[in-house]
Amino acid sequence: MEKLRLGLIGCGFGARDLYAPYFRYLDNGELVAAMDVDEDRGRKIQELTGCRKVYTQLDALLADKDVDAVMILTPTNLHAEQVERAAQAGKHVYCEKPMAKTIEEADRMIDACARCGVKLQVAFMKRFNPSFQRAKEILDEGRLGDIFEMRAIWDNARARTSRANYRHQLRSGGGFLQEDGSHPLDIIHWWMGDVSEVSGHVMLVAANRFDNDDVASVVMKHKNGAMSSLHITMLTHRTGMESYEVFGTKGTLPAILNLRKTDRAG
Ligand SMILES: NC(=O)c1ccc[n+]([C@@H]2O[C@H](COP(=O)([O-])OP(=O)(O)OC[C@H]3O[C@@H](n4cnc5c(N)ncnc54)[C@H](O)[C@@H]3O)[C@@H](O)[C@H]2O)c1
Repeated sequence: MEKLRLGLIGCGFGARDLYAPYFRYLDNGELVAAMDVDEDRGRKIQELTGCRKVYTQLDALLADKDVDAVMILTPTNLHAEQVERAAQAGKHVYCEKPMAKTIEEADRMIDACARCGVKLQVAFMKRFNPSFQRAKEILDEGRLGDIFEMRAIWDNARARTSRANYRHQLRSGGGFLQEDGSHPLDIIHWWMGDVSEVSGHVMLVAANRFDNDDVASVVMKHKNGAMSSLHITMLTHRTGMESYEVFGTKGTLPAILNLRKTDRAG
């Protein structure tokens, strides 16, 4: 089987720390090119992965016939346009979460890829986690009876980040609910099905450091009649936590806890 030849767009934190170490383990894929408006960042990915080419212009990467598919790891506000351009160039697309700033942008991305006959995948990697897949099976097998509620919590301690990071600037199109919240919202959608009603509140507490929300609560009604909620903050003083609990008429799925180190001293 021929390897899928990949081009990486956006060579920042995610590309360097979360992706670069793992390309060598791909059986059916190979990184051939990296592109970033900051050439040094592209060169760093080349140094880490050995990819043959580095570009600073998106059009140059998209014109490269050695690239079959692109991986888009840029700030969220750039995803829609870059996905559309990649699709028009005939490249399959893997795009990091959050997919886009708005439903309209997400629809444009889906339409462009469908029209151009290329695949589109959004990087919700938690769907490949065996424990999350097992939880989904337990729900589908009906072992909890009728599911009536799901509660998700996502806390993080971002003491050292500030509006220097694009995530905390208005141009990103959303705050912590959009950025990290897209993970638990995806899990809720996966396990509980389509949503019929949403209500919620967002707050900006650390206005000295961020331009958009750092605390949010969301309550959703699902088409199957169940409800769910997500509570999220990036300002906890304890260890960051990710948990999910599902309540059914015959059983309760205990929280899946994913503790992460705090970046807040003490
Ligand atoms: N799945 C996950 O858990 C996870 C984790 C981290 C990041 N991400 C996602 O990855 C994406 C990038 O996040 P990050 O932390 O790497 O951000 P980052 O700011 O560290 O890196 C973004 C990179 O994009 C480059 N860039 C800016 N404009 C560009 C353009 N027009 N063309 C090409 N490159 C451009 C920047 O120079 C920078 O190197 C976001 O969507 C983020 O949500 C996902």
